[in-house]
Amino acid sequence: MIKAVKLCKRFADKEVLSGIDLEINPGMIFGLLGPSGAGKTTLIKIITGQLVFESGEVKVLGKNVSELTGEDKKQIGIMMDNHGMYERMSCIDNLKIFADIYGVPYSKTVEALNAVGLAGSAKKPAMKLSKGMRARLQLARVLMISPKLLFLDEPTSGLDPVTMKYIHKLILDQKANGCTVFLTTHNMEEAAELCDEVALLNEGKIIERAAPDKVCRKYNHRKRIKIHLTTGEDIELEHDQKAGESIMKLMSDGRIETIHSSEPDLETVFIELTGRKLENAEEAEYA
Ligand SMILES: Nc1ncnc2c1ncn2[C@@H]1O[C@H](COP(=O)(O)OP(=O)(O)OP(=O)(O)O)[C@@H](O)[C@H]1O
Ligand SMILES: [Mg+2]
Repeated sequence: MIKAVKLCKRFADKEVLSGIDLEINPGMIFGLLGPSGAGKTTLIKIITGQLVFESGEVKVLGKNVSELTGEDKKQIGIMMDNHGMYERMSCIDNLKIFADIYGVPYSKTVEALNAVGLAGSAKKPAMKLSKGMRARLQLARVLMISPKLLFLDEPTSGLDPVTMKYIHKLILDQKANGCTVFLTTHNMEEAAELCDEVALLNEGKIIERAAPDKVCRKYNHRKRIKIHLTTGEDIELEHDQKAGESIMKLMSDGRIETIHSSEPDLETVFIELTGRKLENAEEAEYA
């Protein structure tokens, strides 16, 4: 669905992407993670033909990005911050403008507003929408075209947990319909929950790529078992036979309240792999 080979991009003398190799298979939700300024939005803009690049190759829907036809582009939905709405126009009229551009029947605009839970606000001007409503309207605009490929750049940034969950469901529905989703997020919990695979972009390179749980297992340096006892005490045991015997004893005595393996979550791995470098980058910026 998407393929990048040795992709490089620079802005003036700053190389932002340094040889990105990436392959995204149809039907998956792919999450691109990375610190602020890592180049995530830049990569989306290149893949969607909004930015030119210096060297390498990018293919989308099996074609070089420069060769995509108008019909191909109609199969690609893009939700990014800078894709503004016509502020004085109502939600439904905003969608109708897009329906005209994409050659979609107006009936789809109503369906899309229903799908994102904005049917009651159809006549409200875009400027009167809350942040969560605006995000849902933006999503309605891309879902309306029933995309084969969907790019979502931080789709839930700054939203309340209920709206966030609502948007997660809409994204999963797209996957169930066979759509391939490419998203960026700073919310590691969201990435772990939604993504079939994540890639970590740092200093212009992809430094890790796998299913979220696989990434977490890979960086499980401590391999310990954490137990909370019914007495309120916390204990940690090694991953070995002796621990197995202790756990059996505790369990048969009914003394275990909770038990967990110690692999890190995605956020901890993210900080381990990028945190120090981010600090350095900030230092360099203020030097
Ligand atoms: N049009 C531009 N001209 C010059 N530099 C740019 C331009 N767009 C982005 N950059 C720079 O490229 C780098 C990557 O920016 P980008 O927006 O892709 O990061 P990001 O990973 O999306 O960050 P965030 O998580 O904050 O959205 C940054 O250093 C940014 O300042
Ligand atoms: Mg960005």
